[in-house]
Amino acid sequence: MPIPATQGDREAGRAYDRLIIAIDGPVGAGKSTAARLLAKRLGYRYIDSGAMYRALAWKALEAGLDLDDEGRARRLADAISIAFVPSGDRELVLVDGQDVSRQIRKPEVEQATSKLSAFASVRRVMVARQREMAAQGGIVMDGRDIGTVVFPDADVKFYLEARLEVRATRRYLEAQAAGTPRGLEELAEEIRARDARDMGRSASPLRKADDAMTIDTTDVNAVQVVEAMEEEIRRRLIASRRCT
Ligand code: DC
Repeated sequence: MPIPATQGDREAGRAYDRLIIAIDGPVGAGKSTAARLLAKRLGYRYIDSGAMYRALAWKALEAGLDLDDEGRARRLADAISIAFVPSGDRELVLVDGQDVSRQIRKPEVEQATSKLSAFASVRRVMVARQREMAAQGGIVMDGRDIGTVVFPDADVKFYLEARLEVRATRRYLEAQAAGTPRGLEELAEEIRARDARDMGRSASPLRKADDAMTIDTTDVNAVQVVEAMEEEIRRRLIASRRCT
């Protein structure tokens, strides 16, 4: 497998290989910022798997679905179309053609997402879709179970974490920037509760894959995180070439 290019390699026109890169970790650990930037630097697609669960939850609320009804939730997951469309530095999330990028970030959708993402049959549908999206490789996907369940054979896996206060502060600043300010304490409490749910559920709980590299993002910025990731990608590929 060719070793991926450095910035210098890229400037010289040498292409990256089409790897699958998995990034997991709890809320506020900086996954999406790092994943998006890494994908950009590699020329890969970024897939936010959390947005897929959020998209389903948004649709379920729209349809007035009983959120305790796993069978109906699974059928809805099967029926809807979820698409990511690049837009500037970000990507729009379309459900059945409708742009729901903003709606899926609302607190009520977040609550519903937490419930629906705990259903094993819903997860099976989402995992199948995530694997389809990565069929051509060249993908960075972030979530909770990407390195453990979706792509246990991912080329490189990362597990991001950070101190709770830092994670809450990131959410606090995001909420302010979005014009929907929230209290810091309230956010910290919410994150604690989401950690407990994400790590404690029986279907695909959040955990670090044994072969994932842990990056603590408490005291580093996104560029530093991505540089550490690129270095690890190169190191892994050099090691895998030596073994073959
Ligand atoms: O990453 P996020 O906060 O957008 O995720 C939204 C919810 O979806 C959160 O409750 C965890 C859940 N999720 C999941 O169960 N599995 C994933 N691969 C991604 C997210």
